[in-house]
Amino acid sequence: MAKTISLINMKGRVGKSTLTINLAWHFAAYEDWLKKVLVVDLDPQFNASQYLIGVERYAQMLRDENPTIWEIFEQHTKTPTGKIKGFDPKDVLIAVARIRGGGGIDLIPSRLELSLSLKNPAQKEYLLQRYLKKVESEYDIILIDCPPTESVFTISAYLASDYILVPVRPEYLSTIGLPLLVSSMRDFREKYAKQNPILCGSGQA
Ligand SMILES: Nc1ncnc2c1ncn2[C@@H]1O[C@H](COP(=O)(O)OP(=O)(O)OP(=O)(O)O)[C@@H](O)[C@H]1O
Ligand SMILES: [Mg+2]
Repeated sequence: MAKTISLINMKGRVGKSTLTINLAWHFAAYEDWLKKVLVVDLDPQFNASQYLIGVERYAQMLRDENPTIWEIFEQHTKTPTGKIKGFDPKDVLIAVARIRGGGGIDLIPSRLELSLSLKNPAQKEYLLQRYLKKVESEYDIILIDCPPTESVFTISAYLASDYILVPVRPEYLSTIGLPLLVSSMRDFREKYAKQNPILCGSGQA
């Protein structure tokens, strides 16, 4: 069963996406324990997607109308012409790298339109968790790169995660995000009693 780790900090520009990608490569390519890694880009800024597959392949992916994390969040949204086009769960996964010996990285890409999901977030918080349950048997580690503000995406990440990893820059404004995150996790636990992700480094693990 895959272990799922979300990289979250309410403060922006602290290195969430950079660390997500570097951890993915580390887990996938470290020679003693090659892992199958899935990176989930949960940020409408889609930095992790471009970081992993490059600008050109990313643009081609959009032209090819590849389903993305947006389709996962909007799969039940009705439009005037009916539901958003259905998709096969495997079609959302982009193969990024295969490492001899068994390691590899796949990506669930993001796109700018994901921010539209914030306009109508009701009852969407379980969709990521449900999707990941369908594919998690293929992976050892799932890394979720989160956006810098609290929203339905943060709740989705908490619901899908075993661990929360909080990158922090050693500077004042960056550390202000920490108590916010602790209180956000406390609120989450009160509301969603069944799920209890562990804050990495807190001594809970
Ligand atoms: N360890 C590091 N040392 C120096 N620069 C870094 C380091 N990690 C990340 N950066 C740089 O800091 C900037 C912010 O990094 P990154 O985009 O990963 O942060 P983020 O937390 O994901 O931002 P956002 O909140 O916008 O999603 C980038 O320009 C990145 O190249
Ligand atoms: Mg980022």
